[in-house]
Amino acid sequence: MDPAKRARVEAWLQYGEDLGIGPYFRDRAVTPGNDGASPALGPAPLSQGFAANAAAPPSTTPGRAFALGASNLMPPVALGAAEPSLFEIASRIEGDTLERIREDIGADCARCKLSKARKNIVFGVGNPKADLVFIGEGPGHDEDVQGEPFVGRAGKLLTQMIEAMGLRREDVYICNVVKCRPPENRLPEKDEIATCSPFLLRQIAVIQPKVLCALGACAAQTLLQTTQGISRFRGEWFDMLGAKFIATYHPAYLLRNPSAKGEVWKDLQKIMTVLGLQPRRR
Ligand code: URA
Repeated sequence: MDPAKRARVEAWLQYGEDLGIGPYFRDRAVTPGNDGASPALGPAPLSQGFAANAAAPPSTTPGRAFALGASNLMPPVALGAAEPSLFEIASRIEGDTLERIREDIGADCARCKLSKARKNIVFGVGNPKADLVFIGEGPGHDEDVQGEPFVGRAGKLLTQMIEAMGLRREDVYICNVVKCRPPENRLPEKDEIATCSPFLLRQIAVIQPKVLCALGACAAQTLLQTTQGISRFRGEWFDMLGAKFIATYHPAYLLRNPSAKGEVWKDLQKIMTVLGLQPRRR
């Protein structure tokens, strides 16, 4: 393997270790040399009020590749690069499916302390072949009771956002960084994120969306591996794991700060441009 490729493989494996998914990829991934190929591992109503707030025309800007600072652990992945992305590599993980991931989590998962108070594990919902995946932080009370992400007040707003984009809720996939409700709706803690995020990465790898949209700081910072505030990079494109990644404000934030809806609508319009979507006709 040439030195540049080796460096990228090592960077990717280090990223896996940092995220706590090293064992998963070590145990199950096709690694260079054992598949006959030599993959370059790739560090490679809102409906009205929301759209009516739209200020800017849809625009696309070139993706920037993880330049968020020292805490950024994920090496850049070039969109459209000839080399395989994580998704391509993960798709070679034999037989991985959403069902298998759900089974691996198990009905009685007790890997972290969130298991103590949760009622239901909230796995994710939607189109398993979605072009667009929304990622929130973790289930709240309603989600914990119903076992489905984004079904409470923030969820209803998310559904309206999706519909304003000309989609239905069932067209996209919706999931969270952690699958169990943090008590009192506190932020998920580092160890909980480290324990649960491998399942999120597997979900993304199986779905292979064109666009990943992080809702709020927790999802954005987890996926970008940064501690920078979301307002520093909200609405910017990143090339991530073979998809285009964008972060926007969480719908719960919009419930508290309706004036931010215009900013979020601009972000959604960027996604619509990439996916060739027309806004819903009113
Ligand atoms: N907030 C989230 O981040 N996720 C949910 O599923 C519900 C509310």
